[in-house]
Amino acid sequence: MKLNIAVLAGDGIGPEIMEQGVAVTKAIAQKFGHDISFKEALCGAHAIDEVGDPFPEETFQACMQADAVLFASVGDPKFDNDPTAKVRPEQGLLAMRKKLGLFANIRPVETFDCLIHKSPLKDEIVRGADFICIRELTGGMYFGQKQEGTEEAFDTNYYTRPEVERILRVAYQYARQRRKHLTVVDKANVLASSRLWRKVAQEMMTEYPDVETDFMYVDNAAMRMIQDPRFFDVMVTENTFGDILTDEGSCITGSMGLLPSASTGEHTPVFEPIHGSWPQGKGLNIANPLAQILSAAMLFEYFGLKAEGKLIREAVQASLDANVRTPEIQVEGGLQYGTREVGQWIVDYINQR
Ligand code: IPM
Ligand code: MN
Repeated sequence: MKLNIAVLAGDGIGPEIMEQGVAVTKAIAQKFGHDISFKEALCGAHAIDEVGDPFPEETFQACMQADAVLFASVGDPKFDNDPTAKVRPEQGLLAMRKKLGLFANIRPVETFDCLIHKSPLKDEIVRGADFICIRELTGGMYFGQKQEGTEEAFDTNYYTRPEVERILRVAYQYARQRRKHLTVVDKANVLASSRLWRKVAQEMMTEYPDVETDFMYVDNAAMRMIQDPRFFDVMVTENTFGDILTDEGSCITGSMGLLPSASTGEHTPVFEPIHGSWPQGKGLNIANPLAQILSAAMLFEYFGLKAEGKLIREAVQASLDANVRTPEIQVEGGLQYGTREVGQWIVDYINQR
């Protein structure tokens, strides 16, 4: 297959983990005979410094012309600590989501047996947990009308029926391919927007009789996720709730540095790690490249290239089993591996298959 990939490495540890993500993608392309080209583009703090815009037009065009975007992370503490900053790196991320119409954010929550001891939850509660959160990504409070004054301010949690319907369709499709259990998370006991979500879902569920649909308030869902995460198979929710619940999801497995995600919608899909830009780790060769590498696996799988995705997942699992791990997940007393060494080990593994 011929694929053009736009590479947006961004800030912090982004460029280092991206280097490994691209190396693995190239190794897979060579092994399976795919013709993949890469085009780098600016985004985030880096782009503000260079051209004054966190998601420049040129980057947008590079994304539009690509078949897929491999994205790393954006963010820089110099903006976080300056409330007067007019442009922020995060705006680049939001602009990318909106302009590419990336309304569906797919965030898997998976456990890796060898990392369960890192989970803040008890082994018997979290072992085997395996669900995906489908977060609506271009609506709700993030993009609704807002006003910011010194005495009052508001954000609007605005959703239309078509917006709710299209994200629910994505969720049902995932549920059908998995354990056929969909949990619609909302706050319909309080919020009008949530009642619209629930109404649309209740109408649509008759079209998917093979999928068991249940409804859960978001506060209850947050609790259930730590009490009984195995309850969930596919969860679907609005933008803000999804933001909060997916952070919770990524940490309960003890493998935050390992979780990839996909954002899909109207234009080019984007594949990126769930974790952020970790500025403190920048340039130290200690960042875990696995979430970035697994994002490449999701990219291949998106194009129906299952064997390619599978080989990446197998190589990642093998690296963990061989204790080839970055410091934050290294077993005590084990050898130390850096970002580059872990990436190289995975490339070698792929080449040898
Ligand atoms: C995420 C992040 C972003 C969000 C920030 C960086 C704007 O937290 O992708 O979850 O809130 O969506
Ligand atoms: Mn978030």
